This record gives sequence, structure tokens and C-alpha cells, in this order.
Amino acid sequence: METRIINSVELAAEEILSGNVVALPTETVYGLGADALNEDAVLKIYETKKRPDFNPLIVHVPDISEFEKYAENIHPDVYKLADFFSPGPITFILKKKSIIPDIVTAGLDTVALRVPYHELFKFVLRLTKTPIAAPSANMFGRISPTAAAEVMKELRGKIKYILDGGKSTVGIESTVVSFEGGRVTILRHGFITKEDIEKVVGRKVYEYEESSEDNKVTSPGLLKSHYAPLTPLYLAEHTFDLKRLIDELDDEKIEGLEKDSIGIMDFSVYDGFRELSKNLFSDLRNIDERHYKMIFAAKVKNVKLGRAINDRLEKASVGTIKYNGKKIVFKDK
Ligand code: TXA
Ligand code: MG
Repeated sequence: METRIINSVELAAEEILSGNVVALPTETVYGLGADALNEDAVLKIYETKKRPDFNPLIVHVPDISEFEKYAENIHPDVYKLADFFSPGPITFILKKKSIIPDIVTAGLDTVALRVPYHELFKFVLRLTKTPIAAPSANMFGRISPTAAAEVMKELRGKIKYILDGGKSTVGIESTVVSFEGGRVTILRHGFITKEDIEKVVGRKVYEYEESSEDNKVTSPGLLKSHYAPLTPLYLAEHTFDLKRLIDELDDEKIEGLEKDSIGIMDFSVYDGFRELSKNLFSDLRNIDERHYKMIFAAKVKNVKLGRAINDRLEKASVGTIKYNGKKIVFKDK
């Protein structure tokens, strides 16, 4: 199959209405979209990206007024948050109505709903008049694409069209929020931060890791390894550690390591978390293409958007590095 990058929203919408998958731009990352109400079309999403069938999809709708079509028992905090952050990079896990096929939710009784902000995605939704299921448009386990050319590298020959909507401005996936048990729990960190959410709901917001046996929140898609480059990525705990390490490498070879064989991700070139998150995945992709032996990066401060950045870095990494004054200590996950 020949894959084309296109500018026509009409063509993209037609392809979706014919029951096929199309790559679509969103403000977070590019998605691989299909008609969420058409089981055969949704099956094609799983097949195209070789996604395991236990991993549920996000359903994209044009407006929060449509939540009630696909979900029930909607917690008032959902609307509080949606009024603030939708359209935008936030996804709500809600009790599903039967109109949503089981294949979309991997058999769960909840559905993930999101109102995207990107103009072209909204346009396609208006044309198709059907909700669009879309995971990130990468092969399973790989780095999410943030530009049409990156989707082409992932899915060439597998789909007909990639709708070009420029570079995704957010750069990392939406924040996924659950309301199970009356608690607000972040299942996946994203651009909308825990701090942002706490301010709006005015109460404690939990993180996935804090969900206990008696208050079990599930998200089958939360795998330890994800977003991974092919070159092994090692993480230092702080930028400071990475700097020390690089200085040592400059001076001499450590433990058989040559500086030229190591790709260093230097986040200090970015002015703040937003710029970093926008560029994180494309930087990972670019450095991966240079075929280094290893890639080194350092975690950022674990607050606000830093949580999402660290989450993606951890999932993309194979382990950690430390410099103990004499040698580099590698620890695999
Ligand atoms: O920004 C985004 O969210 C992008 C764009 C394309 O919208 N989409 C995206 O989709 O990142 P995907 O499939 O790569 O990630 C969806 C996440 C997974 O972690 C999945 O487990 C979780 O959402 N999820 C989906 N439905 C769920 C449900 N019913 N309960 C719990 N988690 C769910
Ligand atoms: Mg993904």
C-alpha cells in the first residue's frame, strides 16, 4: 500500500467513514484514527500497530456535551475539569455505555474520552460525525510521533493517508484521569499536571502508584517499557550527575567507553518544561537514528510537567547510570 501525506480533511474523513484507519494530527502526538463505533475498523488499529488486545483505546469526541452519549454516572469533577481543560490534552475514564464496542475498551466497563484541541482533528470529527478511536500513531512500544514525517517512518506501507497538521505543540500524550471510587486518580501523567487538576477539583489527587488493593484503579496500558528507542537509553538521577559524567568522559575513556559512542541528550538547551516536552520524542527519535552505542539523559525535577517528562524518560530507558567518582555504574531495569 502506498502511504501519502495529505492536507485534505475531507479525504481523511472519507477514509474513516469507509472503515479504514488514518493518521491524524493532535496537539499531543499524532493518532491512528478509526470510527470508534465500527468494530472492524477498530480491529484494524490493533492490527496496524501490532498493539496487544488488552490495551484499550482513547475515544475522541468533538465536545464535552457528547460525553453522555458514550458514558454514564459522570462524576461532577469530570465537568469541572473538562470546563477548564477541554478541548485539550486530558482524557477522562468513565463508565461506558453499550454503544461503545468492547474492542475499543479491551473488554473493560470503562471508556476513555477526550476532546482534542487540534483544529484539523476537530474538523475531521465534524465531517465524520462519529467518535474517533485513536492511539498514538507508532508501532507498539515505540516512540510516539509528533510530526507527519515521523508517522511516515513508523507506518509507511501500512496505511493510506497521514493528515499533515504540522508539529504537535504539546509533544507528549494527554493526562489520563480516573474517577473510580470517588477518587481522582492520574493514570498517566501528561501536559495537564497534577497541580493543575488539584487546583480545579480542590481536593487531593492521587497517582496511579498510590492505588491500593482495596481501591484498585486499573489501566492495562500502563507498561513499564514504552516509547523506547532502539539504542539503549540510560538515565542519570540529576542533570548534575550527567554533567559530572560527561566531564569524566571528556578526560579519558572510562570502562571502555568512548565519548563518541555515546549520545547525550542535553535538555538545558530548552527554556522550561513546555519546550522540552514539545521536543522530547523527536529528540529521542533523532538521537536513536545516529546509531550510538548508548544514549545518556538526566531526569528533570519531578514537579508539574516534569512528572510526565520523567515518566516518558523512565519508560523509554533500559536502566540508570551513576558516577561514583571512579567509574560509571549501570543498573538495568
Ligand atoms: O494524547 C493522547 O492521549 C494520544 C492522542 C492520539 O490523543 N493518544 C494516546 O493513546 O496516547 P494511547 O493508546 O497511546 O494511550 C492510551 C492510554 C493507555 O495508557 C491506555 O491504557 C489508557 O489510555 N486507557 C484507555 N482506555 C482506558 C480505560 N478504559 N481505563 C484505563 N485506562 C485506559
Ligand atoms: Mg501510545
